[in-house]
Amino acid sequence: MALPKLQQIPPTIAAVADYEPYARERMSEQAWAYLAGGAADELSLADNRAAFERLCLRGRVLQDLSGGNTRLRLFGQDFAHPVFLAPVAYQKLAHPEGELASVLAASALGAGMVVSTQASVELEAIAAQAQAPLWFQLYIQPDREFTAALIRRAESAGYQALVLTVDAPVNGVRNREQRAGFALPAGVEAVNLRGMRPLQAQAEPHSGSLLLGGPLLAAAPTWADLAWLREQTRLPILLKGIMSGADAEQALAAGIDGLIVSNHGGRTLDGLPATIDVLPEVAAAVQGRVPLLLDGGIRRGSDILKALALGADAVLVGRPYVFALATAGAIGVAHVLQLLRAELEVAMALTGCADLAGIGPHVIWRAPPG
Ligand code: FNR
Ligand code: LAC
Repeated sequence: MALPKLQQIPPTIAAVADYEPYARERMSEQAWAYLAGGAADELSLADNRAAFERLCLRGRVLQDLSGGNTRLRLFGQDFAHPVFLAPVAYQKLAHPEGELASVLAASALGAGMVVSTQASVELEAIAAQAQAPLWFQLYIQPDREFTAALIRRAESAGYQALVLTVDAPVNGVRNREQRAGFALPAGVEAVNLRGMRPLQAQAEPHSGSLLLGGPLLAAAPTWADLAWLREQTRLPILLKGIMSGADAEQALAAGIDGLIVSNHGGRTLDGLPATIDVLPEVAAAVQGRVPLLLDGGIRRGSDILKALALGADAVLVGRPYVFALATAGAIGVAHVLQLLRAELEVAMALTGCADLAGIGPHVIWRAPPG
C-alpha cells in the first residue's frame, strides 16, 4: 500500500536525492517503474549521474561577490535562476493534482516549466495557474492537422515557446516497465491528445522488419517537417534531444531558435553518452548563436554550475521534481527548486562567480597531465 503524501517537509530531507525513497513508498510499483526507470540496462541513466560525479570544481577564494545574482534572459523572457522543470508526461501518476501542483511550485519559485504533450491535465488549466513563463513540449503527431490545432491551443493559452522533442520517434526498450507490468491506470491519460485520429494501420504487411518500413516511422517527423512547423507558429522553437555537434549545426541551419542537449533521461537509446559529456561538442557547434540548455542527471546545484561552465545557459530537471511531487505535492516541488537554487548560489560563491556570466570553463578543475 502506498503511504499518504507528506503535508510538510521533514528536516531530514536535506537534498534532492533524499526524495527518492519517500517517493517510492508513495506510489505503486508500476508507476515507480515508469517514473524512475530508463531504457534497457539503464546505462545512459546511470552515466548521466556518473559523468557529473567525475567532474571536479576549481575553488576560488577572496573574490568580490557583491551585487551578485542568478538572473538570465532567454527569448526576451526573464528568469530569476537557470533551472526549469523538464517536460514529464502523466504527472497524475505521482500526485492526484499532477501538473497543477508542479506549475504552482514553478510559479512560486519563478522557474520556467515545460509542459509535456502527454500531460495528464488540460494545457489551458495548467496555463491558468501559471505565474512564471510556460513552454509547451511538442511531439509532432502522425495527424498533422491535430498537431497544428494543438500548437494553436498552446499559443492561445499563453505558452511562450515550443520545445520540439526529437529523440523519441519510437519508445525506448522499456524493460523495467514491462517487468513491473506498467500500464496507465484509470484516470490518467494524455488528455490533450483526445480526439486525435489514430495512426492508420497498414493494410499490407510491410518489408518484413518489425519497425523499419512500418507506419510508425513513416509518420515520424524529419528535418523536412521543421519548415512546416515554422509556418505554424511565431513562438521560438527549441529542439530537445540534441546529442551531436552535427545535429546542432543542422538545427541552426534550419532556423531553430534554441537547443536542449538531452538523452531523455536515459529513456530512449540506451548507450547514448551522458549529456554533460556531449555538451562541449554541441556548445562548440552552437558558438553562442542560440540559447543552449541541458538536462539529464542534474541533482545538485554544483551540477548546474558544471553545466553552465561547459556551455549551457540553463538546465532542466525531470525526476527530481516528480519524486518531490509524489512525496508532498506542490510544496515538495517548490522545495526541490529552492534546494537547487540555494546550492547553485553556494557553488557560485565558492568558485568566485558573482553572476551567470562569470561562470566559464575555468571553474572546472582538470587534473594536471601525466
Ligand atoms: C520524461 N521526459 C519527457 N520528455 C519529453 O520531451 N516529453 C515527455 O513527455 C517526457 N516524459 C517523461 C516522463 C518521465 C517519467 C521522465 C522521467 C522523463 C524526459 C525529460 O523531459 C527529461 O529529459 C529527463 O527527465 C531529464 O533527466 P532527469 O532530470 O530525469 O535525470
Ligand atoms: C517518456 C515519454 C512520454 O519519456 O517521453 O515516457
